Amino acid sequence: MRTRSVSANHRRQPTGRGPAVAVDSRVRPIGVFDSGIGGLTVLKALTEILPGENFIYLGDTARTPYGNKSSEVITRYSRENAEFLLAKGIKLLVVACNTSSAVALEAIARDTAVPVIGVIEPGAQAAAEASVKGKIGVIGTEATIASGIYTRLLKRLRPEAEIYTRACPLLVPLVEEGWTDNEIACRTVEHYLAGLKDSGIDTLLLGCTHYPMLRGLIRQVIGPGVRVVDSAGATARAVHSTLARFKLLRSARNGEQVFFVTEMPERFTRVGRRFFGPQVESAVRIER
Ligand code: DGL
Repeated sequence: MRTRSVSANHRRQPTGRGPAVAVDSRVRPIGVFDSGIGGLTVLKALTEILPGENFIYLGDTARTPYGNKSSEVITRYSRENAEFLLAKGIKLLVVACNTSSAVALEAIARDTAVPVIGVIEPGAQAAAEASVKGKIGVIGTEATIASGIYTRLLKRLRPEAEIYTRACPLLVPLVEEGWTDNEIACRTVEHYLAGLKDSGIDTLLLGCTHYPMLRGLIRQVIGPGVRVVDSAGATARAVHSTLARFKLLRSARNGEQVFFVTEMPERFTRVGRRFFGPQVESAVRIER
């Protein structure tokens, strides 16, 4: 997670009549972006912990996947996503994509006046806390694993830990196809996890937003002795505490979600319902 101080216009607004109240800032939406659909697993955790908040979700479906692209391209796309959401007047930005968080979070946070929270640090924290023996496996996209960020963070949190990583590029298309428990999915997961299993890990971190959709199968393949953790819940808790710290929590009950995509809104809503639920009724396509 990376947070930045809020700028003056997100702090309490002077009214000239007694103590100022930051009503405007609290009612602003939270911006969430992902390379496509996977970030909906993070949005789900966010809406569970923060049911009163309004969310604007952007899925860059025209340019997904990010996981096999260069750092330069991922950073450019991620910046454009952040700019779109910032122009909507958001009060906090969630980078709900492991690949973008791994590669571009620093660059985005540097240019952004609202708090920016990624999924890597909360996920690493959750894995470091869950592991008893300090033998931790991490799976993710090629770009996330190549960045080495999970290993660096986990080593900082648990210097004695042994970290084993594995890029699993075929899992994203399998999940998008809805193949989360068939023979092909099973064989693919077995193939990717074989080495991690042999390493004797006691915790497996799902370092990609799509992988929670495969949690049942991954649990079955890796076996009962390994704790399987992801970053969605931990990220949502980090967002909650950041909003509380900056006095930006919205005290309402019925928050709403609005969805924007850069391509194929019908596919997004169809597949998105599996990730998030029936609330993904429609998505607005934006031009890039
Ligand atoms: N959302 C990406 C992640 O969490 C996975 C999909 C992609 O490669 O763009 O890394």
